[in-house]
Amino acid sequence: MSALYDSTVLRPLKTDLVFAPHQVTLYGWEGATAVVGENNGSSLTPAGFESHVTTTPLLRSQTHETGAYVFFAGLALWVYLLFVVLAPKPRCSCRERLDGKTVVITGGTDGVGKETALELAKRGARIILPCRNLQKGHKVISEIQRATGNFQLSVFYVDFTILESVEACAKQIVQAVPKIDVLINSAGIGHGIGSTRDGFPMLFGVNHLGPFHFTKQLLAPLRKAGNARVIFVSSIAHLWGEIDFDSLQEPDTFTVKSQFKAYSRSKLANVLVAKQLHRTEGKHGITTYVAHPGWTFTSLFRDFPLVIKFLAFPLFHLFLYLPKEGAQTQIHLALARDLECQSGGYFVSCRQAESCQNAEDFRLAADLWAYSEKAVASALSYDVQTCTSI
Ligand SMILES: NC(=O)c1ccc[n+]([C@@H]2O[C@H](COP(=O)([O-])OP(=O)(O)OC[C@H]3O[C@@H](n4cnc5c(N)ncnc54)[C@H](OP(=O)(O)O)[C@@H]3O)[C@@H](O)[C@H]2O)c1
Repeated sequence: MSALYDSTVLRPLKTDLVFAPHQVTLYGWEGATAVVGENNGSSLTPAGFESHVTTTPLLRSQTHETGAYVFFAGLALWVYLLFVVLAPKPRCSCRERLDGKTVVITGGTDGVGKETALELAKRGARIILPCRNLQKGHKVISEIQRATGNFQLSVFYVDFTILESVEACAKQIVQAVPKIDVLINSAGIGHGIGSTRDGFPMLFGVNHLGPFHFTKQLLAPLRKAGNARVIFVSSIAHLWGEIDFDSLQEPDTFTVKSQFKAYSRSKLANVLVAKQLHRTEGKHGITTYVAHPGWTFTSLFRDFPLVIKFLAFPLFHLFLYLPKEGAQTQIHLALARDLECQSGGYFVSCRQAESCQNAEDFRLAADLWAYSEKAVASALSYDVQTCTSI
């Protein structure tokens, strides 16, 4: 083995020299084979070989390309390891238990809501899961019972696209339990077209109006708990949200722009409602919190167009949180002690974070509250002043 010089690029080549009586064959490190002429038996020097070296240019460019691919694949692997695999994940380290407490979790049949229900059941809480698919709800309950040994779990039917159903569910829960210690509004959709049965844009109706009315209907048992917590699972997408009251009747359309606008608006509405509740219900001992789970690979993306699923899902598998990781922030908000002074706050990775300017707008929050009350009242044929059926 010795080092020779490639005459074209003047770079050392690691070579295997195979001596035949009058020939030296050089196997270059780039995989190119070069016949370098006759060996007259004298010492081998680079200069001696220069003029005889022949290489194939095609092979050389192919090997350069391969080298570039290997380099970028290696770089991508390192970035993935450093920023995804080794990056700190949200983790709630609270050891508190919830024995004797009642927790209502919407969206508890899937994704981060299901993981939250599992963890809080482990801590001894009585869990109520309002869900739109009772069969799935019972299956989830059995799974949680088997995993935790906690049998205080029940399901109630609710469909957040129908306000009547929201109201009926809340009424049943009020009759079933004397108090609610924690309400977690986790049900939501990431993609929705058209309008709800009550005529509101789909994402606004399911992600905001349904949970808004549900929470309002449960205020009495929440107040009874003395120090209840209401947690809204919003999203970082609220930062791009805008509430334009004139467009709140327009159905959601299929385009990416319309979907993102509608989703971020509904998630901003979650933050505004949490803040408004904090202002009005604080005196009744209710504190409110907003969680962003972090981008988590759940069924939230199931209704995305097929082409987006096809392109994005392999990446989602690699880069997004697991549901258990995405659930940590709301688990923390349900369990942690001494959070009262952070009521109304927005949390990411179990820590308080900055929400956007719109979310801090008191007036907007009050206007949205009033708008939502009227919208619900008109859908349910209520008199908004007295809250009695017309
Ligand atoms: N995943 C993320 O990356 C991410 C990021 C930021 C915020 N979030 C928020 O996190 C929350 C939970 O999302 P996820 O990721 O856990 O999604 P998911 O796995 O799709 O879970 C959504 C839950 O909501 C329920 N739900 C949907 N529409 C409903 C309706 N009309 N009536 C009653 N229940 C309904 C679903 O019921 P079924 O089981 O019957 O489908 C399911 O239990 C959402 O509010 C979402 O906006 C998620």
